[in-house]
Amino acid sequence: MNDLLQSHAKRSSGSVECLGLTFPSEEARREHFLTLLAEKLKDTTFRKQDGFPQGTDEAILAMSDPPYYTACPNPWLPDFVAQTGTPYDPAKDYRREPMAIDVSIGKSDPVYKAHSYHTKVPHLAIVPSILHFTEPGDIVLDGFAGSGMTGIAAQWCGVASQTYRLQIESEWKKAGFGSPKWGARKAIINELSPAATSIAAGLNFPFDVSYFEARAKSMLTSVQKKLGWMFETKHTDGKSTGRIDFTVWSEVFTCSNCAGEIIFFDEAFDPDSKTVSKEIDCPHCSASATKENMDLVFETFLDTPKGTTERRPRRVPVLIKYAVGRRSFEKKPDSYDIDVIKRVEELGLAENLPTHTLPDCQMTRVGRMKTTNTTSIHHMYLPREAHVLSALWGEAQKEPDARIRNALKFWLDSHFTNMSILNRYRPEVSFPYNPLTGVFYVPSQIAEADPFKAYDNKLKRLISAFSQNHAVAGSSIVSTGTAAKLNLPDSSIDYIFTDPPFGENIYYADLN
Ligand SMILES: C[S@@+](CC[C@H](N)C(=O)[O-])C[C@H]1O[C@@H](n2cnc3c(N)ncnc32)[C@H](O)[C@@H]1O
Repeated sequence: MNDLLQSHAKRSSGSVECLGLTFPSEEARREHFLTLLAEKLKDTTFRKQDGFPQGTDEAILAMSDPPYYTACPNPWLPDFVAQTGTPYDPAKDYRREPMAIDVSIGKSDPVYKAHSYHTKVPHLAIVPSILHFTEPGDIVLDGFAGSGMTGIAAQWCGVASQTYRLQIESEWKKAGFGSPKWGARKAIINELSPAATSIAAGLNFPFDVSYFEARAKSMLTSVQKKLGWMFETKHTDGKSTGRIDFTVWSEVFTCSNCAGEIIFFDEAFDPDSKTVSKEIDCPHCSASATKENMDLVFETFLDTPKGTTERRPRRVPVLIKYAVGRRSFEKKPDSYDIDVIKRVEELGLAENLPTHTLPDCQMTRVGRMKTTNTTSIHHMYLPREAHVLSALWGEAQKEPDARIRNALKFWLDSHFTNMSILNRYRPEVSFPYNPLTGVFYVPSQIAEADPFKAYDNKLKRLISAFSQNHAVAGSSIVSTGTAAKLNLPDSSIDYIFTDPPFGENIYYADLN
């Protein structure tokens, strides 16, 4: 680690050029622009503009890496254009033939899979449009950029592999188009949601991948040493220790015929066919029942951050999938498991778990968020997941290099939904992470997945994605604000690739 630390310090200490200025290091560049951004945030006219995020100055500054990324409207967009743009040339022919492109390709690429985002468009599906409609060095704008894939696509035109180039060239030849002009384009990435722009910034800017990998691994090891016991179980042989892959939690109902309590999963799950039936027979009176005609059983608990007594569905652990060595097993939780769960509960609220109340929005007004009384972020995590995520976040916060710190948070954030109570247990699929996409849906059977395994696997994927050298410093600039009013000079954009929000199909604001 010490060697890595030294080589990382060496790599980040060389002088850097940024928007026409030279700095002795990346840290000096960041400090300079952070000071300017902090001053700008005090300007009430700047803050009053439409689409300005509702964050504090501290939160905006903590997320930002100016001038490349600001978690608010980016004041350096005009400078980016002045530095990188090519003035309009009336003598040049800017016309292009129309071109139809399949935007669904590239969904298995590691960069696409690095971090999910609602209705994400793969960069490989955007590249052909950019190649066709622009030239190297041109400025591409995406005003509704979501996770910033247009920025990746613009940079990809300069770093695409030989195999990819040959494939595109041969496809274009067959379709009667000329040869593409390879070479990176510049991208202006704008998006209303800070949650989305933080993903875009995570993807669009290069960083020291080996150092990131070493830091992430050491975080996992240190948290696993402290909290790994939470995901251990005893094998049915009574001797060996197993690692829990996931624990299924089921809601409890009352039979509308006899008022007896029913642990839904115990009656509905058929382990042979791996299906959960919709209709069950009450174990007390044999009356047939469905979830719809039974009442959910609630328990009261002291919601410490709110200082009030609240209600939440009673959830009980009903199934554990675990591994001993390379072999997988399933069992019903036993007294050892119940004891571990109790010990975790006794630890109280995890230190770094956000306790914000969810704002009033469509997602919380209706459906299972409403009927399960899920009103705050800390309601969305079972205690074990909360403790491990909180400890990992605490470790990430300690990283002094801002770019690496953000990369670590990007890695953690990429699994936050999968580690929450939104993760449905779906026995029919082998993939362990199954939240319903496009909504907040609290399932009746939750799969509480092993966070250590989740982050270990994700880390391998991120390394594979980021080692491809997809991002080039200074090629993209990311801004958080409304596309309705962009701080850009007239006639400064060569091409717009955008995928705007469509009607009420997806509640981006609520989900973000
Ligand atoms: C269809 S998504 C774009 C997804 C993107 N193509 C990707 O690959 O991640 C549309 C985006 O528009 C954003 N949006 C909605 N209203 C906006 C506005 N006024 N200005 C900028 N972005 C907005 C939403 O937050 C959402 O992320």
